[in-house]
Amino acid sequence: MAEMGTTSGPEILLPIGPPRPGRPRRAQLESALREAVRTGRLAAGQRLPASRVLAGDLGVSRRLVVEVYTQLSAEGYLVGRPGSGTRVSDLPLPPATSAPAAPRSPDRSPRWDMRPGIPTLSAFPHHLWRRAWTAALGAAADSDLAYPDPAGHPRLRQVLAAYLGRVRGVDAHPERLLLCAGFTQGLHLLAHTLRARGARTVALEDPGLPHRAPILHQAGLTVLPVPVDHDGLLVDQLPEQGVDAVLTTPAHQFPTGAVLAPARRETLLAWAGRSGAIVIEDDYDGEFRFDRRAVGCLQGRAPDRVVYVGSASKTLAPALRLGWMVSPAELHTDLLPTKFLADHGSPTLDQLALAHLIEAGDYDRHIRAARTRYRTARQALQQAITRHDVPLRLVGTPAGVQTLATQLDGTHPDQLTARAQAIGIAFDSITRFQLTPDAVPLGVVIGYGNIAPHAIDEAIALLATITNGQRESP
Ligand SMILES: Cc1ncc(COP(=O)(O)O)c(C=O)c1O
Repeated sequence: MAEMGTTSGPEILLPIGPPRPGRPRRAQLESALREAVRTGRLAAGQRLPASRVLAGDLGVSRRLVVEVYTQLSAEGYLVGRPGSGTRVSDLPLPPATSAPAAPRSPDRSPRWDMRPGIPTLSAFPHHLWRRAWTAALGAAADSDLAYPDPAGHPRLRQVLAAYLGRVRGVDAHPERLLLCAGFTQGLHLLAHTLRARGARTVALEDPGLPHRAPILHQAGLTVLPVPVDHDGLLVDQLPEQGVDAVLTTPAHQFPTGAVLAPARRETLLAWAGRSGAIVIEDDYDGEFRFDRRAVGCLQGRAPDRVVYVGSASKTLAPALRLGWMVSPAELHTDLLPTKFLADHGSPTLDQLALAHLIEAGDYDRHIRAARTRYRTARQALQQAITRHDVPLRLVGTPAGVQTLATQLDGTHPDQLTARAQAIGIAFDSITRFQLTPDAVPLGVVIGYGNIAPHAIDEAIALLATITNGQRESP
């Protein structure tokens, strides 16, 4: 760490000496300020030195300080007020534990990659995508190369609306469908739009996807964790008042694998009707159910209360950054300027390629093949666990590309995850997804989407050398 020293102008303790080698000065200053705000050393409302003054103190360019202030303002740590300079924001900040996990660097690729949420990347339909993309480019009019419609290309909206209605029971009208960069951007847009409409609190399933809470916090929203059990979200625990929206994964709770029970679906919609709240339905892997035909989405039952969010991250590949939202009409209208300001619209040629893929029937065929592959992979995981007598029990509905596995020997999931990682097997502890540390159930979340069935057996055989050795030595 660089030497600490106080700045001029309001005095603030910051790394003031020569920069720590190997890390850009800008990154060092950003993280020092972030940490100071997080730990409360810089209180809400505290004025920061003028950029010129701080630049002089630190011996860096003024531009660097301005960039740092801009970045931290975008992240919600600071606010710039005309006439009164830059101050520490008084918005609620995410607790340190709910910060988004650092992006996983490719050079840390594990030997056996069983991290949840990843589809079979080697089965991406290269030739079909190339064909669809070439057809899209060939058929594109000059006007298609202008700035896109922020809602998405009309052709894809039409084709996708028909697909979502046919396959997921979405009440999808092209004029209420918005294309976005995956669920992640969808939630970001919703958070800012709901906040601008006066929303304050969003209820979240606990456990769930780690970056939901930071996205909502960044928009100035407060998060209310609501537990889940084997029937999904505990709907009865939603307060009658004071919650503006609830984010749920009813088709396949992430990461516990529960399907929202029919009675709870009804209770949830009735609650939304009474309280006026919006239900955000994250249908991230709705096409991949193995034990029966998929249950239709919630949104089809109450299109005036539910926002449906879908993504190509599981069906094709996360790298495409293609997602979609179907919203109640008024909310859809409010989302459009937010989307426009975010990115001026999603890339048109990728949208047209997806439209071609769906229209040609290739998307359906690809999904059918993927479903069979994931069903087989999940069975291979179950068989390997039985064959190698590993004390894990797969729970949740057989669906998607990962499963929760509860531990039968009482080992803490963090410990098992760390020990597995040390021998080249990567999966996640449930604690990575928890908003409240004591949320149950305990277990590990194992992905089988991006690993070949024979490799699943190898990995579980190797895991047995840890778990079974442990059982023998008390
Ligand atoms: C619960 C959940 N929702 C949504 C997504 C998809 O996110 P995105 O569309 O931003 O890739 C994932 C991906 O892992 C997920 O696990």
